[in-house]
Amino acid sequence: MAKLTRLDDIVSLCKRRGFIFQLSEIYGGLAACYDYGPLGVELKRNVRAAWWKAVVQTRDDVLGLDCAILMHPMVWKASGHADKFADLVTVCTQCNTRTRVDHLADGSAAQEHIEHVDIDIEAGKEHNLSNKVCPACGAVGQFTKPMAFRLMFETQMGANADDTMKVFLRPETAQGIFVNFRNVLDSSRVKIPFGIAQIGKSFRNEVTTKAFIFRTREFEQAELEFFCKPGTDEEWYAHWKEQRFNWYLNLGIKKENLRFRDHEPDELAHYAKACVDVEYKFPFGSGDWQELEGIANRTDFDLRQHQRGIRTMNDWYAQKGDLSKITLREEAEDYFKGPLSYFDEETRQRYIPYVIEPSAGVDRSTLAFLVDAYDEDEVNGETRNVLRFHPHLAPIKAAIFPLVKKDGLPEIARNLYNDLKTQFQCFYDEKGAIGRRYRRQDEAGTPYCMTIDGQTKEDGTVTVRDRDSLQQTRMPLDQVKNFLRDKLEL
Ligand code: GAP
Repeated sequence: MAKLTRLDDIVSLCKRRGFIFQLSEIYGGLAACYDYGPLGVELKRNVRAAWWKAVVQTRDDVLGLDCAILMHPMVWKASGHADKFADLVTVCTQCNTRTRVDHLADGSAAQEHIEHVDIDIEAGKEHNLSNKVCPACGAVGQFTKPMAFRLMFETQMGANADDTMKVFLRPETAQGIFVNFRNVLDSSRVKIPFGIAQIGKSFRNEVTTKAFIFRTREFEQAELEFFCKPGTDEEWYAHWKEQRFNWYLNLGIKKENLRFRDHEPDELAHYAKACVDVEYKFPFGSGDWQELEGIANRTDFDLRQHQRGIRTMNDWYAQKGDLSKITLREEAEDYFKGPLSYFDEETRQRYIPYVIEPSAGVDRSTLAFLVDAYDEDEVNGETRNVLRFHPHLAPIKAAIFPLVKKDGLPEIARNLYNDLKTQFQCFYDEKGAIGRRYRRQDEAGTPYCMTIDGQTKEDGTVTVRDRDSLQQTRMPLDQVKNFLRDKLEL
C-alpha cells in the first residue's frame, strides 16, 4: 500500500540519490531555484519525452516549435504581460514577511492553490486586510497597503550603454507559438484544426515560493496551443481535457490523487471562455490539492492582441521602446484580414482561430511523479524506500550486477551491460553486498536488476529481479534484450 508521505522524505531522497539539488548549494543556494542531478535529469527528460510523444509524435494534427527565451518587447505589451502580469503583495508590519494578498488566510483557509491571476495594476490595490492573518507570525490585520509586484524578469540587450534595450525573460512559452502562427501555417501546409507545441524554460519572479520544485523562479513548461474554428472550440476543449487527464493516469499517477477543478468566476481571465486545472493531491500546503496543469479556452484573444501589437509598432519606435508610454491600437475594421487570421479554402471564410491551451509544468509534473511513486515497504524485516515509477519514466531501466567481483562474472556482466546500454539507460555496479545494490536501485526507481552468478557460467542464464513484485526469475542471457523491450514497451 502506498502511504501518504511527507515532502521532507522526498526532498532528502532526491538529494541523497542525485535527483535534485539546491542550486549553487556550495554558496548557500538561491531561494526557489534548483538543479537536477544525474537521476533527475533522466527522469525529467523522460517526462518531456512522454509529453512530446503523446501531444506531438503520435498525432497528425500537432507540430513542434522551439522558440528563443528572449522575445521582442512588444510581444509582452500585446499579450498583456507588460501591464498586468503582477501579483498584489503586502508586508506584515510585525515580522516583515512579504505575502501575496490572494494567498492570505482569513483565519480559516489560505488560498494557496490559486496560481497567478492577472491584475489591473492600478485598480487592484484596494483591499481590506483587517481580518487577514500573517502566515509567518500569525499577526492579524497588521499589513501594509497592497502593492503590485511585477513578475517578469528584466534584462538589457545591446553592448552600448546608450542604445541598450530593456527585454524580458519569457514568463510563458505560449507567446512564442502565437507570434509564429503565420510562419508555421505558411511553411507546413497545415489546416485548421491543428496545434503547435513547445517545451521550454520560463521565468517568473514569484513572491510565494515553497514546496521544493512546485513553484520556482526558473521552470519548464510544456504548452500546446490548439487552433480551431470558432464554434468547434467547446468540442476541442473537452477533447484536450480528457487527453491530458489520461496522460497522467497512463504514466502511473493514482486516480485518487488526480482531479479537475473548474476556475471560479473571479479566477477566470476576462477573455477566457472556460478554464480547468488538473490538480494533484500533493502532500503539502494548506489544502493538498494543487494545480499541475491548466487547460483554457482562450477564444481568439491572443491572435487578436498580436494583430493590435503589429499595428502599434510605429508607436513603439516613436516612444523609443518605452512600453509604459504605449497604448495598443484598436483593431482595424478589417482586423480579420490581418496576418494572424486564417483563410479556410473549403468554406472560403476568413476568421481568427480560437485557441485551446493545455499548459503543463514539466518540473511540477516531475514532482507529482516522484511523490506518487514514492513508497516504503518491508523486505526481510528491513524498511525499503522504493520509487515505483512507470517504466517509461524510470531514469534507469535496468541495473546489471555480477554477484561477486571474481570468477569471470564481471566480464559476463560487462558484456551484457554493453549490449543493453545501446538501447536502454542502464547502470553497471559490482561493488558491495548484492542486497544493498538492490536497495540503491529501488530508491532510484529502476524496474529491473539483472544478476550474473555462478549458474550463468554453467547454463547461460541470468536472474532478473522485479522492483515491485520482488520476484526473481532466470532467463537466458540472449533473451534479456527482448524481455526489456516488451516490458518497457519502447
Ligand atoms: N500559458 C499559460 C500559462 O502559463 P500558468 O497556469 O501560469 O499558465 C501553466 O502556467 C503551468 O506552468 C502551471 O500549471 C504549472 O504547472 C507551471 N508553472 C507556472 N508557474 C510555475 C512556477 N513558478 N514554478 C513551476 N511551475 C510553474
